[in-house]
Amino acid sequence: MKWTASKIKALKGERKIAMLTAYDALTASLVDSADIPAVLVGDSLGMTVLGYDTTLPVSMEEMLHHTTAVARGVENALVIADMPFMSYQPSVEMGLENAGRFIKQAQADAVKIEGGVVRSALIEALVANGVPVLGHIGLTPQSIKETGGYKVQGKTSEQARKLMDDAMAVEQAGAFAIVLECVPAELGTAISSALTIPTIGIGAGAGCDGQVLVFTDLLGISGKPVPKFVKKYADLNALIIKALAAYKSEVESGSFPADEQTY
Ligand code: KIV
Repeated sequence: MKWTASKIKALKGERKIAMLTAYDALTASLVDSADIPAVLVGDSLGMTVLGYDTTLPVSMEEMLHHTTAVARGVENALVIADMPFMSYQPSVEMGLENAGRFIKQAQADAVKIEGGVVRSALIEALVANGVPVLGHIGLTPQSIKETGGYKVQGKTSEQARKLMDDAMAVEQAGAFAIVLECVPAELGTAISSALTIPTIGIGAGAGCDGQVLVFTDLLGISGKPVPKFVKKYADLNALIIKALAAYKSEVESGSFPADEQTY
């Protein structure tokens, strides 16, 4: 069954929603094979696979290239394209135009944008024009120059109230779900109870309606330190390096290729 934004929205209160990032056809087909209903082509790809220090340099062309590959690798999962920094912030018109490129050119099913009240007009315009939107509040990596780093958000009651207002605004503007990143679990639960759309947590506690993680973090591929909210379900980094070292050693010793690999 092909997942749609409205099917994902209808899961609220029925069952928890698993979401995972993917960056190309290979990783997307693995996510799809595990029956995960939604795959996010996160702009985290800048840091996980393109070697940037932050998500800020990621371009529309890079996101379109990777989203197209993800869409080719997926049969059932909803494909959500993350709109990169400055592809929607300057104006509603620019956001509409670039979101349209993800749907038309890259075969995405929905887009994700960061921000709450400040993005209401854009979310409304996108939804009115047939583009499903996943909101994203809390720690918003595209704002790190302003927030000063990757820190837990909403720790004071004033910040928590502001995040609640942001969440309400995103829901009222018509988003089908919202990512809550790095907020105290109590706030994650309060926002999840107040909204009728699903909350997808990442470092926002078990009270959210779903969870999202970064593909390379979950599988332990990068070998770099991961945030506290990550659970590594595998340690592929060690496994891959061991396999590569064995290959190198066998090439150097002449034991690969053996008779079985020879015509
Ligand atoms: O870019 C990304 O992968 C994200 C998720 C971590 C929510 O925004």
